[in-house]
Amino acid sequence: MSSSDSAVDVRSLAGSDHHKYDLTLTDKVIAATGPNAHPRLAEIMPSLVRHLHDFAREVNLTVDEWTNAIELINECGRMSTDRRNETQLLCDILGLETLVDEITANLLSSTSSSSSSSPTPSAILGPFYRSNAPLLPNGTSIVRNLTPSCPWYETAQSDAAHISGKVLSSSTSLPIPNAIVDVWHTAPNGLYEQQDPSQPEMNLRGRFTTDAAGRFSFYCLRPVAYPIPDDGPAGKFLALLDRHPYRPGHIHFIVSAPEHRTLTTQIFDQRDEYIARDSVFAVKDELVVRFVPREGDPMGRWSLEYDFVLDPVARTVVA
Ligand code: BEZ
Ligand code: FE
Repeated sequence: MSSSDSAVDVRSLAGSDHHKYDLTLTDKVIAATGPNAHPRLAEIMPSLVRHLHDFAREVNLTVDEWTNAIELINECGRMSTDRRNETQLLCDILGLETLVDEITANLLSSTSSSSSSSPTPSAILGPFYRSNAPLLPNGTSIVRNLTPSCPWYETAQSDAAHISGKVLSSSTSLPIPNAIVDVWHTAPNGLYEQQDPSQPEMNLRGRFTTDAAGRFSFYCLRPVAYPIPDDGPAGKFLALLDRHPYRPGHIHFIVSAPEHRTLTTQIFDQRDEYIARDSVFAVKDELVVRFVPREGDPMGRWSLEYDFVLDPVARTVVA
């Protein structure tokens, strides 16, 4: 990200007379697409090229700046592995994953049949999901092997929480039995188990199946704020923008049920100081929750009742 200080400021030479650019360039690039182009690319690339070129002209983008941007993207690629997706992280801090998630949810919900209740909003998956979390009985805990020698034992005791609720169908508002509630969150040190060798395998992850009344319940911890990985180019970019890397405390869910669209979402603890300043912009009002004190339960000091509402999958009507 090192733009040379001694370089001539090309922008000051350019002035604002955009008419000196060859404005036919944009049309030529768009027109270069051939008749056998991938149909979706043929549809969307003219818009992308137009926005990109307009952006470059609007800000008078220089070769130095463009080279820095290319190096940022290249660095993201070099750093990405099957355990860390730095390019996705870059999109996250620009709000792009949240926007694309919202667009996708809107497109899908506009195709669904009339609803009697609103579906739970989606939120981004994030990079720390692991499939095949243990299938656990309702009423059990996703906190594994917690002993007093654990550095965050006290916090885990004071933040132990019971979460229960129903999975409902938006079309009927009726409960859905046999739905799967897949849940994961960080430990009080802000790390997911796969980032932290001191945590047991699959700590703070579990899958629960709703009962005949569509209910699920489990014990976990109230979530804490944590920084997204900021030791790479996305983190450097945040620093250049004078931004912090924190996400407000949240719990991730994937809720799936027969004949319903799978919901990927997160709930956010209202008490968190970052609730209005999520570094990846995923917070939505309907997903902000309030834990209340729980009396007489040695396994949990806090309670939350939260229902997930899923849209049915659209049926194809055969005439
Ligand atoms: C997460 O919530 O796990 C997450 C989301 C986006 C970027 C990094 C982490
Ligand atoms: Fe997370």
